[in-house]
Amino acid sequence: MNDEDSLDIKTILVGMSGTGKTNLINALSNRPFNTDNISTLTSSFIEKYVEIRQKKYRVELWDTAGQERYKSLTKLFIKDSKIVIFVYDITTKSSFEEIDYWVKTVNENVTEDNCVYGLIANKKDLFLEEQVDEEAGMKKAKEIGALFKLVSAKTEASLINEFLIELIEEYLGKVDGTIRRDDYKGQTIDFTSLEYSTYHIKNRKKKCC
Ligand code: GTP
Repeated sequence: MNDEDSLDIKTILVGMSGTGKTNLINALSNRPFNTDNISTLTSSFIEKYVEIRQKKYRVELWDTAGQERYKSLTKLFIKDSKIVIFVYDITTKSSFEEIDYWVKTVNENVTEDNCVYGLIANKKDLFLEEQVDEEAGMKKAKEIGALFKLVSAKTEASLINEFLIELIEEYLGKVDGTIRRDDYKGQTIDFTSLEYSTYHIKNRKKKCC
């Protein structure tokens, strides 16, 4: 199968600045954890090809800017998304409160009927500073119709990969009723072992204010 024949699965991460979106993308792409608090200026993506049962899927993983001043720009990238991952930081209550804004924004801008939502509670390793407990996260996920995962971008790259796979499975199950979720179970869809096809950088990363 040629790459041109593959089905695109645009996946976008949104959430307040500093919640760890860039580092979650790093975890999904085998890049090292970054301790610098440097804000993303606009959106960028990495793309990967995944093959499941002779079908090829091109997964775009979009990192977006969470800063207030870039919010209107981020909206532009939501369109066409098949999977949206909302991210909050368990040590920052305001980032959890901002999820409602992002859900509203996504609902208003997303064009894909079968769009699948995920909710990531990030920075699990900082549990001693927790301001939002897991139960509240699970409740929010239920409320917005999202799959939920509590993770650490710093220490749990494999768990984050598993969650992405879960979301892809969910999406594929929605768009192709002939595919049962069991078709994917146990199959190796190892994102971390795949090479980058491209890494698009558009005016990215500058010291945060
Ligand atoms: P914007 O680009 O401004 O929207 O921020 P972002 O959501 O991309 O956050 P980023 O990944 O840049 O992370 C912000 C800060 O949080 C950085 O200092 C990271 O090192 C830190 N960070 C991200 N994820 C984790 C995590 O799981 N654990 C810990 N301890 N720190 C994290």
